[in-house]
Amino acid sequence: MLSEYFRRRQAKSSQAIRNRFKLALVEKVPLFAGLSGRDLQKIARLAAEVETPAGMKLATLGEAGREMFIIVEGEALVTTQPGRTTYLRSGDFFGEMSLLDGDPRSATVEATTPIRLLVLSRGAFWQLLDETPSLVHKIMHTLSQRLRQAERSSLDLDRKSADR
Ligand code: CMP
Repeated sequence: MLSEYFRRRQAKSSQAIRNRFKLALVEKVPLFAGLSGRDLQKIARLAAEVETPAGMKLATLGEAGREMFIIVEGEALVTTQPGRTTYLRSGDFFGEMSLLDGDPRSATVEATTPIRLLVLSRGAFWQLLDETPSLVHKIMHTLSQRLRQAERSSLDLDRKSADR
């Protein structure tokens, strides 16, 4: 009985240590800059912290997507359907598209170095969007920039094939 009590207390305190560690990571993420301490604590509670080795596939084109990822440390390569590639680095996020529209993953994302991530489930993602308007603004800003970049890249491809 007593040992069960200590086991529970220990589990609680290691959970608290993990949450403090996650909070320190969350505080470093530009996506969350400007949020209140309360919001940051909520994100730290909702997010999981995951480390994976280089070469790990984090999202696969065409498969269902259930999480959004924020890169805390490391680098990942995005390969889209037409074969275009782009690198994402510390502070960048990915996996939001499938959560927003429910469609399969639009690209494959692979870790090119050992990588540390914060991972938000679909439920946590929507809860944060509902409760934190500045997060919605930042995600929309990034989506808009990625769309412009994709348009520029396909224009370049069209020009190259017209030159041939
Ligand atoms: P999702 O479609 O859920 O899974 C793959 C992710 O790759 C996608 O969400 C975006 O986060 C990311 N992604 C897709 N296309 C691009 C792009 N052109 N530039 C940067 N990231 C992208």
